[in-house]
Amino acid sequence: MTDALPKSLLNGAIVPVVDARISPLDRGFLFGDGIYEVVPVYAGKPLRPDAHFDRLQDGLTALEIANPYSRTRWAALLRELIAANGGGDMGVYLEVSRGAGKGRDFLPESDMQPTVFGFCFRLAPPRPELLARGISAATLEDIRWQRCDIKSVALVGPVMLKIEAKRLGADEAILVRGERLAEGSSSAVFVVKDGRIATPPASHERLPSITRGVVGDVLDALGLPLDVREVGRDELLTADEIWIASSTREALPVTVLDGKAVGQGRPGSIWRRVFEEFQALKQREAG
Ligand code: PDD
Repeated sequence: MTDALPKSLLNGAIVPVVDARISPLDRGFLFGDGIYEVVPVYAGKPLRPDAHFDRLQDGLTALEIANPYSRTRWAALLRELIAANGGGDMGVYLEVSRGAGKGRDFLPESDMQPTVFGFCFRLAPPRPELLARGISAATLEDIRWQRCDIKSVALVGPVMLKIEAKRLGADEAILVRGERLAEGSSSAVFVVKDGRIATPPASHERLPSITRGVVGDVLDALGLPLDVREVGRDELLTADEIWIASSTREALPVTVLDGKAVGQGRPGSIWRRVFEEFQALKQREAG
């Protein structure tokens, strides 16, 4: 689904992905000591690149890794990487790790040179049958760490949760912390009840999702109010509609949760309006 396109970015140069090499002593490999971003690109143009660069900077600041590039340089490299892969609709993965040390000390050496790697993958529009049917999700207890606001490359928690969701026959894990909704294992979550739309606020328990912001703007454009507040597990289980949102999946309706129908068991009417306005926003901003 997300096979890498041929050209990658390695420390400022465009190189074939099959030739990109980094040290096995890289701390991204040894410790998951790095930050990443996934930027959606439509018709060769990134959607809200500054929001992604801001979040990348926030993550680097939290990890005390110096950003190797200025904003202008990042934007130029992103353009180069997209062009090298022929433009069109794609996702761009960008990673900055702390770099390779002389060995494996937990405490980073003082003069480290960050490693920058980027690659692209095709972003196909959601398949019509997926839009007609929706996706399934399973609620799982959030086993990740206490700083989920940092887009860290240490993703073994979500990997375990995705495997468990698949075992349960679900496409996505919706994570709860006790009685509270956290977020999806790789998505933001919205719930709708009696026409009111809610999504949890930013906190250390969840990633500040860029697509969540896009959906917020879509709702504004539609004149639909959004309640940003904590959402209970019970609200999730009794919602009329649930949507997940991410840079690679836009906003998708969850129609089955824990094996039971969400609302009517079909993509909801509010989601459909959001989907259509989302397409219009893409056209306006990036298409
Ligand atoms: N993941 N929450 C988590 C835990 C995520 O991993 C993601 C996205 C989101 C949505 O964030 P955004 O709207 O900025 O994509 C929320 C990306 C797509 C990934 O890891 O592939």
